Amino acid sequence: MSDSHSLLSLVRRPRRLRATPTLRHMVREHRVAASDLILPLFISEKVTEKTSVSSMPGVFQFTLDDAVAECIAAWKDGVPAVLLFGIPSVKDEDASQAYAADGIVQRAVAAIKHAVPELIVITDVCLCEYMSHGHCGIVDHERGTVCNDESVELIVKAAVSHARAGADIVAPSDMMDGRIGAIRDGLDEAGFSDVVIMSYSAKFCSAFYGPFREAAESAPQFGDRRTYQMDPANAAEALRETELDVDEGADIVMVKPGLPYLDLLWRVKERFELPTAVYNVSGEYAMIKAASQNGWLDERACVLELMTAFKRAGADLIITYWAREVARWLRE
Ligand code: PBG
Repeated sequence: MSDSHSLLSLVRRPRRLRATPTLRHMVREHRVAASDLILPLFISEKVTEKTSVSSMPGVFQFTLDDAVAECIAAWKDGVPAVLLFGIPSVKDEDASQAYAADGIVQRAVAAIKHAVPELIVITDVCLCEYMSHGHCGIVDHERGTVCNDESVELIVKAAVSHARAGADIVAPSDMMDGRIGAIRDGLDEAGFSDVVIMSYSAKFCSAFYGPFREAAESAPQFGDRRTYQMDPANAAEALRETELDVDEGADIVMVKPGLPYLDLLWRVKERFELPTAVYNVSGEYAMIKAASQNGWLDERACVLELMTAFKRAGADLIITYWAREVARWLRE
């Protein structure tokens, strides 16, 4: 036994660098920072108090005032940015509340920028929450399709109205063709050439958005989103989609969902070398929450591992419902 032990003269012993916490910390390749985090918030015109989303424990639909308070608290935790979703009291076939000057998101942006001027306010630019049918664009009922170019016109109006309200970054999530270039032109013409575009560039038609649609009340009333969101089987197409957005002027690109698409996060970061965001979506949140509430997973350990995996795969920015918790955990 002692003979065979002495025969083992390994030059490379990777375990040497894992011996103590300090050494492990020194050679750690990827770290999550609070400055990477973006907190999504749902702001509803329909609720009179902060209301829980049943499939996303710990996530709420906020009133405007509660949302402002949440932003102040998030900023104190060290979260640098929020991503706003609006739930209007009235929906119609033109998504008119998506671009109304006094729409819920427009009012929220102004109130949040007033209360916490340094917090970066990002708005999700989409029509689904504002359309009576829940699709991300104008529906041609006779042909049974979502019209691209007509929808882009409304999406541009929404983005410009968010900029006018004071948004720092607009984040189009609709997946219509040509929307990034159209939004860039619209913003520039309206005098908002400094407003950043974070494009949901590789956004897949995913079943992992289920809980979000409860939170945002945005489930399509008929059909699905397969004619505009991407087929989960397509990787080369995700790179082409991202390339179009980059060419049209996206400042930040995004891969969404996160966990099942880490391969694409890596490829998008490698290929375009732009600030790259990942959306840790509602279904990813719900599954870890549910398992940890059952005592089957350690929530904090799993979430920190997940955030580190996003960084390792190339994410610069992480949109996550855990943003406040992660920012606090990183400080402890
Ligand atoms: C709006 C939008 C969706 C999400 C972000 N923006 C839903 C959808 O496309 O159906 C999903 C976010 C999540 O699941 O956390 N189009």
